[in-house]
Formats: sequence, C-alpha cells, structure tokens
Amino acid sequence: MSSWKRTVECGLVDQKHLSKEVILNGWVARRRDHGGLIFVDLRDRTGIMQVVFNPDVSKEAHDISQNLRSEFVVSVRGKIVKRSKETVNEKMPTGRWELFAEQLLILNDSKPLPFPLDQSEAIDEELRLRYRYLDLRQLPMQRNLALRSTLIFSMREFFVKHGFFEIETPILTKNTPEGAREFIVPSRLHHGSFYSLPQSPQLYKQLLMAAGLERYFQVARCFRDEDLRADRQPEFTQLDVEMSFIDEGDIKNVIEKLLGYMFKKVFNLDIKLPFPVLSYDQAFSAYGSDKPDLRFGMVIHDTTELFANTELAFLKSIITTGGKVGAIRVSNKAFTRSELDGWVEKAQSFGAKGLLYVRWSEDGTLESPVAKFLPEDFFEQAGKIFQDLKKTDTLFFVAGNYKNAWETLGRMRCALAEDLKLINPNILNFCWIFNFPLFEWDEQSKRYHAMHHPFTAPQQGWEQLQPDQMKARAYDLVCNGMELGGGSIRIHDRATQQKVFDLLGLSKEETQDKFGFLLEALEYGFPPLGGIALGIDRLVMILTGSSSIREVIAFPKTQRGYDVMMQAPSVVKDANLKEYGLMGIVKEKK
Ligand code: AMO
Repeated sequence: MSSWKRTVECGLVDQKHLSKEVILNGWVARRRDHGGLIFVDLRDRTGIMQVVFNPDVSKEAHDISQNLRSEFVVSVRGKIVKRSKETVNEKMPTGRWELFAEQLLILNDSKPLPFPLDQSEAIDEELRLRYRYLDLRQLPMQRNLALRSTLIFSMREFFVKHGFFEIETPILTKNTPEGAREFIVPSRLHHGSFYSLPQSPQLYKQLLMAAGLERYFQVARCFRDEDLRADRQPEFTQLDVEMSFIDEGDIKNVIEKLLGYMFKKVFNLDIKLPFPVLSYDQAFSAYGSDKPDLRFGMVIHDTTELFANTELAFLKSIITTGGKVGAIRVSNKAFTRSELDGWVEKAQSFGAKGLLYVRWSEDGTLESPVAKFLPEDFFEQAGKIFQDLKKTDTLFFVAGNYKNAWETLGRMRCALAEDLKLINPNILNFCWIFNFPLFEWDEQSKRYHAMHHPFTAPQQGWEQLQPDQMKARAYDLVCNGMELGGGSIRIHDRATQQKVFDLLGLSKEETQDKFGFLLEALEYGFPPLGGIALGIDRLVMILTGSSSIREVIAFPKTQRGYDVMMQAPSVVKDANLKEYGLMGIVKEKK
C-alpha cells in the first residue's frame, strides 16, 4: 500500500464518494464470515462503514481479512459501491454504501476485550472505568465528549464576543471555604504547610475585579472532598463568571443570553427566555426543595388546618408544638395496598416518621389507616385546599417540623413522579431561585454557616434582623430539579465583610489568618461586583440525558473517589514522605 493514511472518515462516506477509491482507517467493530465473503464493520469516531472482502476483488486482502478480530486497527483501500436494495440499512447514516476492499493493512492487533463494546449499560461500571480507554471507544461515549467540547467552545465564543477575558487562576492555593472539605497538598519547601486545591476560583475572581479586569470568565477545574453522588465528582469543571459594576439582573441576563446562544449554536433551538423566577420561600413551600423540578405539578399544600381539632395524638402533639402537616395529591392512579405500604416505607427512608394516606373507595367512602379520626366532611374540607379534588385522587400527608416535613414531601413528589412516569424526559425546564437565606444554622457545630459562601452580600436592611432572617443577594439556576449554577452579588466593603465573618463565629485571629489579604484588598477601592458559576459536567449530563455525571467526564472517579485505571490515590514511598516532612505522621498510620 503506497499510503495507509485515511482519505475519508468512516461515518462521513456518502454519495459523493460513490465509485471513488478511498482509504479508511479505524477499528474492527464486527467481522462476519458469510461463506466466501467477509464483512467488517469498520469504526472510527465519526461512525461505522461496512467493508466487504471478496476474493474476486482481491484475493490478498481477503486472505489477510481472515485474521481480523474485534478491535484490530486497520487501513483499508478500496472502492465505494452502492449496496444492493435488500442489504441497505436505513438506520445507519452510511447504510446505503459499502467499501469493496482492494488492500488491507493491519496496523495493530488486539487481545480479546475484557467486555463487549456498545453494551455499556450491562457492564459493571468499575470494569468500564478500569479500561476507560476502551469504554470511551463506544460511540455514545464519544458523542458525550464531542458535545461537551462543542458546548465549551460556544461558551468561550460567547464570552469573548461580549468582552470577557478568560483568565486562569492557581490550583495550588490557600483554602477558599465554600462549605465543602478540601483536598490538601503537602509542601516540600515548607514542611508542615499545605496548599489547598480550590473549591472554586471564588476569591481570585473577586480579586480580579479589584484589579480592574471588569469581566472575567474561566473554564475552571474545582476540587471538593465531599461525599459523592450521581451528580457530584471530587474534581469537576465550572464555567466561572465575574463582573464589576453590575447587579443581580445583569448576571441573570448574561447567563440567559449565553444559554440562548449555546442552544441556537449547538442544537439550532430557540429556548424560551427569560426563565421563571421563584423566591427560595416560594420554591420550598411549593416543592420542598430549593431546586424544584418544574416538569410536573404535584405541588405541596399546607394542610395543617385540616387537622387543627384532630384527636390523633401524634398529629396533635406535632401541631401544638409548632409543626405542620403538608400534603401532595396524586391523580389518576389506583394504588394497591402493597404499593401504598411501599410509599410509606419510602417516606420513612427519606427521614419521615410516617406517611399518612387518604383516598376514597369506589362507593365514595374515605379509606385511610386513620379514617375513624377524620371528620365526615373531610373530602369537602380538603377540597378547599386542593382545587378540583376528586374521589379518585390519593392524598399523601407528612407531619413534622416545617423543614423536615416539606423536604420529605419534596423527595416523595419526585419519587412518585418518576415512578408514575409523569416526567417528560425531552423537556428542559429552567428556573431561577432568588432570595436565599444568608445563613443556615448548623446543629452539629452550633453555629451559622453561609448558605452560599461568606463573601455573599446581604440584602438591604439586614442589620435590623436576626441572622436566621437575613436574606442573601444570591441566586441559583435550576434545570429539571438539578442545581446547575449558583452565584451572588459580593460584599465589597471591609466593614460588612468583617461583620459577616463575626456572625459566622470566626475569631479576629482566624479572620486575619484566613482572609487578611481579602480584608486588606477591600480597603483599596474594591468595585461593586457579582458573579456565578455553572456546573459544566451537570449541564452536559442534562443535555445528553445521562443518569450519571461519570458518563460525561473522560476519566472520572468512582463513587468512592478512586481512579480504578491509574489506581489513585496510592501509597507514597518513604523517601518521598521524608522529602515532604510527612515521614513521622504517615508512618504512624501505616
Ligand atoms: P457553587 O458551590 O454553587 O458555587 O457551585 C457552582 C456549581 O458547580 C457545580 N458543582 C458541582 N458539580 C459537580 N460535582 C461537584 N462536586 C459540584 N459542586 C458544585 C454545580 C453548582 O451549581 N464560587 C461559587 C460561585 C459563585 O458564587 O460565583 C460556587 O462555586 O452545578
């Protein structure tokens, strides 16, 4: 073969190549021997092309093709021909043509794979991650990474067009407390001292505004040593944004414009803007969550008054001590007894003491484990709360303190919607949540924590309020029940920042030690500023319909934060420990 290099990619063969000679490079996805003729599905990242080895076309190529096995890497030269009518495969983009091979060069062979490709759902994930380079050969995985790349490119394009600078910030840094535990890195030059990996570039981007850069963005790697879930990784990527001389409306505007631009550019879709806005209180009271999934209804209602005169001891004691009873309604579903019992268990697994249900039998009688304690006109009374209540509806009640009861109802709402298939997976439902509390009380440490982060500006009038009533100038972007982004207007004066640190229970020494540089910078003409960060992995996860964040990251960690391919984290040699001044400390633990 004079040259083995491809002249066209497998998935891009089309009409214009008909009767022409081409060279394809790729992997053998499948080989079938049809008595005399050998068919090979040749795969590269663009798709699959069928290659036919016919001894009448080339005996030599046909002979070599007998040795082909799955995942051999080859170069094939030949002519593109039309498939016969009966063998056309309309489902394949290249299904109307095939390559009649004239020459075959095996560029590399392959051992049998540890798992078959294109069946990833059935394969143990650890095995997939151990051989990630094989796993990523699968076209759906390649499509995820390709979409990720295209989206990131369109973000960069948008921001550069709008006068933002992309600026990189350090990875080896001092901790930037944002709620999560951080990863630390020992210093060889300063024994006993550690760098932290940034949870986000938060403080750097604020300082870039102090530096007068005015409009910043970065596709930034972030690190958080927290318990992992389907939408969390210990290292992940944010689209990080910060602007000076702006308010909340400007950030909302820029992000909506960005998403509009990306959807048009990448999917040729017009999304409906602006996105609806809910206050934190509205979202929590209607959906039991600050990241409500608005693709379905099943709104939570406060039904405490239905039980105001109840004789049920447990409800009475909850209500008289300030607790509440909330409920959701499920329509068009006749639950069996065992299904109802299953939902009670589900609510308990979400942390509720119990779940009460009320429904009506075909003759209209009320059915509930507590039926005899409910008034005769319960249906009429409940009908005042639930519009158009029908006797075919089922009501689920949870009682307890407001936060816990509503959180359980929020999770029940999502679990029921999923189980009853009320969610249209093809829609994207964005919304903004504003007016977050500034602080939340942490029972364990007996102190307040910043609900967003400690650099978030409080809303006007905050000094007249108790800490748990103060509101933050913070906002989240939510899509389909997932927090896609979060940000805030920042504090830009030293006195306010110092007061917030005080309310967080930080001593003057701690404040000085951790944030001395920030407090100092706040005294040198800090502009008003604000920003936001979107989780890029989560965005790609939603846009590819993936159920796990790991499907959209090239080399993710397992749920236990382990890299099964590289086997990291790993033990470090004593000589290295010594170099880092860690010998004594780590040796004791070994
Ligand atoms: P926040 O902590 O809300 O804000 O993070 C912003 C967005 O980052 C994504 N995200 C994650 N994605 C994957 N795995 C994780 N472990 C993870 N943690 C967060 C989410 C989230 O909405 N510095 C602030 C932003 C600001 O105030 O400008 C920040 O990081 O999609």
